[in-house]
Amino acid sequence: MQRLDKFLCDCGVGSRSQVKQILKTGRVAVDGCPVRDGSLKIAESAQVSLDGQRLQLTGRIVLMLNKPAGYITATKDAHDPTVMDLLPAQYKSLNPVGRLDKETEGLLLFTNDGELLHKLISPKKEVPKVYYACHEGTAKTEDVEAFAKGLVLKDETQCLPAKLEPLGAGESLITVCEGKYHQVRRMMASRGMPVTYLERRQEGDLILGDLPRGQFRLLTEQEIFLLTK
Ligand code: URA
Repeated sequence: MQRLDKFLCDCGVGSRSQVKQILKTGRVAVDGCPVRDGSLKIAESAQVSLDGQRLQLTGRIVLMLNKPAGYITATKDAHDPTVMDLLPAQYKSLNPVGRLDKETEGLLLFTNDGELLHKLISPKKEVPKVYYACHEGTAKTEDVEAFAKGLVLKDETQCLPAKLEPLGAGESLITVCEGKYHQVRRMMASRGMPVTYLERRQEGDLILGDLPRGQFRLLTEQEIFLLTK
């Protein structure tokens, strides 16, 4: 037996306070009967639903965070705050999908699904990721061509072909299909345009959109499907 409110949190419905609000609206049912009391003890066999949709503890969770600068992508660290500090208790066991540098902002995914995690970070899958960068200098046609051919970095690392779209003086969009260490910063530096600000805006078809900085939201099944298709 366990408390209904804890079960709802563990299923990823929301934080404790969000769950409390949801319960108040009568959207949760246990074995078909609407329940508003989160302290209700439910049996393991109980069928819990939200808006008529059955909830299951083992369900796959994928969430998207708009990472602020100053947090490192790790599950723990002795010195710096980590991205896990931005998630409520019920999501602390999720794993970040890939990584963003401490100073990079924007779209970072988390999941409890090992298979999905592997798919998304596998170099074979090559999910395109779109970054907005502020940088020194202005990207020119030669830079766009060099990115399209596949850059060779200062340490002779060969990069896959990538897309550079100049947006004006000191601003560009960069699309890469791999995730090497400091990839975008090193690519731009290799063309004499050191990055001063970096934000990931898109991963596959998934767009960061207007999700506020520091906030997260769960992906829908449809969004998860599009990510892995
Ligand atoms: N490329 C970088 O240089 N940094 C990031 O955080 C992501 C991509």
